[in-house]
Amino acid sequence: MDESILKGFSKYTKQQRIVALILKYGFQEDLASWLASFENSDSSIQKIIDDLSENPISSFHFPFSIAPNFLVNGKKLFFPLVSEESSVVAALSNAAGFWAKRGGFHAEVLGTEKKGQVHFIWKGNPENLQAIFSEIKNKILAESALLTAKMEERGGGITGIELKSLPHILPNYFQLDAGFETCDAMGANFINSCLEQFGKSLLDYFETSEKISEDSRECEIIMSILSNYTPESHVRAWVECPVADLLEGKSPQECELFARKFEQAIRISQADVSRAVTHNKGIFNGIDALAIATGNDFRAIEACGHAFAARNGHYAGLTDVQINNGKFRFSIELALAVGVVGGVTAVHPLAKLSMQILDNPTAEELMMYLAVAGLASNFGAVKALVSVGIQQGHMKMHLSNILNQLSIPEGRRVEIEQHFQDKTVSFSAVKEYWEMLLKREGTKTQSKDLF
Ligand code: MEV
Repeated sequence: MDESILKGFSKYTKQQRIVALILKYGFQEDLASWLASFENSDSSIQKIIDDLSENPISSFHFPFSIAPNFLVNGKKLFFPLVSEESSVVAALSNAAGFWAKRGGFHAEVLGTEKKGQVHFIWKGNPENLQAIFSEIKNKILAESALLTAKMEERGGGITGIELKSLPHILPNYFQLDAGFETCDAMGANFINSCLEQFGKSLLDYFETSEKISEDSRECEIIMSILSNYTPESHVRAWVECPVADLLEGKSPQECELFARKFEQAIRISQADVSRAVTHNKGIFNGIDALAIATGNDFRAIEACGHAFAARNGHYAGLTDVQINNGKFRFSIELALAVGVVGGVTAVHPLAKLSMQILDNPTAEELMMYLAVAGLASNFGAVKALVSVGIQQGHMKMHLSNILNQLSIPEGRRVEIEQHFQDKTVSFSAVKEYWEMLLKREGTKTQSKDLF
């Protein structure tokens, strides 16, 4: 038996987990108090955070930021953002202010249906099964009525169940492919509970129905699970303005050149996968930051968004631009599923505050805000890329991280920032400059001491 395998780690107290860490890695004994310094002084809040996961030893902080000046469908909003990439918040803030002066962002929800499947193997005839499927479906719906009653009261429930025979994937493989409306909830638990019940009803039908021959009663449920790909839960957002209004204080020719390069960048993202992935990463910089701040599952949102980006058979950028009759229209279409009730949104104190900052949106409104965050982030990135380049802005932000890494005292930062205003920022360059300053000051002090 491998003695190094820890058993029952999840039952350890926080203190015991930290001791295990110290023993394994030889960390200093004061690790526990250092980790505790990252925790909330209010133990009831810390308990909420700890309970979000397993085996916590502390809290891992990311900045909770605000991008002001968003105007979405005529409504003025601040966007709460959680991101460790400072240029993301800057890009969203700049884009928000820029478009607020040009009519703001427009958005509409194109659908909200979510999906899930029961995957099963059955060795009978697919056509015969299809012929009796309406009877099976009625049984499934009747037997899941208890589970769906509450959701139906809120206007949701099961929107459809289809039988799919997919022998090209696996021999004798079928799916029950179901659609769900989950209103303001993400609905993962609701959907998965329904699907597991569908599986039980299906097994029962195969076992008991006289329409099933004795030699084909055997059915094997492989799994019952929601799909994070929700192409029918999708949203569109866009901005528009005259091309001549695209660059503040610049000539119409410069604006036109900018619009042309912007359009070229978008076309490249739509055709070239290497560029498309980075382009979409920039979009998700904004979407994820807002999704995390509101306690939504950003992994599900990303997975869905990337699958949607490949919906036409090749992976492409999610945004589009149209330039017609001197008008610039920049848009995004995105599939995503979110919730505004239940889950982390309902328990994390800062997620709750984020929802208040967004004026307690419905799930549909949050879908629109997420699409807007993606569009704003992409606008900022592509604008920088086709004009001054990305490094200028990035490095300015990066400098503050380097100053932190080097523990530069607060009172000394401005002179270093000024020095690097027109210079290339790198860790070694900043370190070298700081060391030079210290050396110079040391020399000065010494000479003063001499006299
Ligand atoms: C960096 O986080 C995101 C960008 O690379 C996105 C893009 O290239 O469009 C700037």
